[in-house]
Amino acid sequence: MCGIVGYTGTRPAEPVLIEGLQKLEYRGYDSAGVCTLDDRGVRTTRRALGKLAALKARLSSEPCPGTTGIGHTRWATHGRPSEKNAHPHESDGVTVVHNGIIENHRELRLELQARGRVFTSETDTEIFAHLIALARQQGLPLLEAVRRAVGRVQGAYALAVVDEKTPGALAFARLASPLVVGVGEGEMFLASDVPAVLAHTRNFVFLEDGDCGMIEAERYVVVDAAGVAVQRPVKTITWSAVMAEKGGHKHFMHKEIVEQPRAITDTLRGRLSFDDAAILLDGVDNGALLSTRRVVIIACGTSWHSGLVGASLIESLARVACSVELASEFRYRDPVLDADTLVIAISQSGETADTLAALKEAKRRGCRVLSVCNVVDAAIPRVCAIGDGLGAGTLYTRAGPEIGVASTKAFVTQLVALHLLALQLAQLRNTMTKEALLEDMTALAHLPIHMEKVLAREDDVRALAQHHVNARDMLFLGRGLLFPIALEGALKLKEISYIHAEGYAAGEMKHGPIALIDDAMPVLVLALPGPGYEKVISNLEETRARGGRVLALVSDDDHSLDDQIEGVLRVPTSHQRTMPVLAVLPLQLFSYHVADLRGLDVDQPRNLAKSVTVE
Ligand code: G6P
Repeated sequence: MCGIVGYTGTRPAEPVLIEGLQKLEYRGYDSAGVCTLDDRGVRTTRRALGKLAALKARLSSEPCPGTTGIGHTRWATHGRPSEKNAHPHESDGVTVVHNGIIENHRELRLELQARGRVFTSETDTEIFAHLIALARQQGLPLLEAVRRAVGRVQGAYALAVVDEKTPGALAFARLASPLVVGVGEGEMFLASDVPAVLAHTRNFVFLEDGDCGMIEAERYVVVDAAGVAVQRPVKTITWSAVMAEKGGHKHFMHKEIVEQPRAITDTLRGRLSFDDAAILLDGVDNGALLSTRRVVIIACGTSWHSGLVGASLIESLARVACSVELASEFRYRDPVLDADTLVIAISQSGETADTLAALKEAKRRGCRVLSVCNVVDAAIPRVCAIGDGLGAGTLYTRAGPEIGVASTKAFVTQLVALHLLALQLAQLRNTMTKEALLEDMTALAHLPIHMEKVLAREDDVRALAQHHVNARDMLFLGRGLLFPIALEGALKLKEISYIHAEGYAAGEMKHGPIALIDDAMPVLVLALPGPGYEKVISNLEETRARGGRVLALVSDDDHSLDDQIEGVLRVPTSHQRTMPVLAVLPLQLFSYHVADLRGLDVDQPRNLAKSVTVE
């Protein structure tokens, strides 16, 4: 949460910073700000409450001159959203932007106040400005002052710093929050992620935890936590900036929903070998899969939902016990773990704080660790890197950049990646016949075509959304592999349309939610072919009998419910184990259209952030 960007070179910094912040707005949008320095070190800071548009409006009449600068888009943690709490924060000419959280900020604030420092915000970040300013007053060079300051802090940070006394230079530091250096020609960039500055350079240095450094137009330097200069390789990024743009769609979420068949094609590419009925998973240590006696999946949010589907697939196909845990709970409840346990972290961003911390804890206890991740080289894949005896690698989902805060293509690619992983486990453990394996592989290979068919019916989904645009509450019911899809359908609706929605295991409805049913409560029942079908139809009838407004998601050839339901969504019949991927598509579109028809900000719903790097 929070995005930071920095620039130094020969161009005006302000447009580069604003463009970068635009790309980072998914990380938070409570307030935004920039600070620039001109050649003589004259500083200009502008901040505004609300989205970046408010800051841009301010800059149009009060620009920020200079060719060096830092910028920030905020998701509030310490201190409510306000202009006073917006970054950058300044002290004696030292100005900082920060993504992360300082855990010992209270002690440090009291200590600094006792030394006469006056705070102008309620943020934890301002501590950095004072600590660095004090170190500068003691005569330390900027980089050393930053290194000393971060050494006092417990928590997480990605930090960019400018000082009036060193125009043309930016200092930086990172620990547990992402930060990259973009290496240009005669210019350098800092950013929370690659797309923020991808329009300007393809060459990036991915910083490690504990790194500090400086950028100037022609050079960069990185030192480790002890202050010793270190070499970090420059990597060249191959995907284009256009891949991260809206591509003609009204919202990123819509673009990302529509491009899901392409995303699944990418997830599968090179991983299905029909000639020898084999799954080929690049980057995964098969030895770890083979030796495991138990799998524990950890994840948050939508990734947790894909984990629920993945665990069922792993158990049913590979016959390995598999549990799924919310990372935020798992890490604090002293779980039983041992060297025979394989812990799989699922994360789109690869930087969710709870998932990362839970994964590190599992590794500390001697578990093998694997990740299913979208963002290449993020913190979570790094913890799982093969080579230290415990890292078992990363299965990349290859969804491409996901910008909409509500996850869509990352989710379906996780489902498919986990299905591949389950098949790989089954193959290694000999729990599936060649024919059975080929059957699942064929179903996966056919998925993109089926998905296109579902997406082609968007108008039907929109019409249903129109009908329920003013719903106050909504219930989603499913069984088996479709229970997590009911959870995901409800999560999508509540996060972008602000309609209260609950996903429930259909069989549990009679233990509580049935009391809520009345003629104002739409209930969407996921009634697709499979072992739970008859039972779910009974739950549908129980709902109808209590006057509920029943909607159903059914397969193309099922017309048995036509006269019992108020609304219908249809998907082609596919293999039972790939049905979750098809089932979630109309639910994503439904939420999207409800939110859009309500005139809401689909890509940046209130209070949410795409990457949650606080606990
Ligand atoms: C946030 C996002 C969700 C995401 C969750 C976990 O809440 O808004 O879309 O599912 O974090 O994120 P991860 O990157 O670990 O999958």
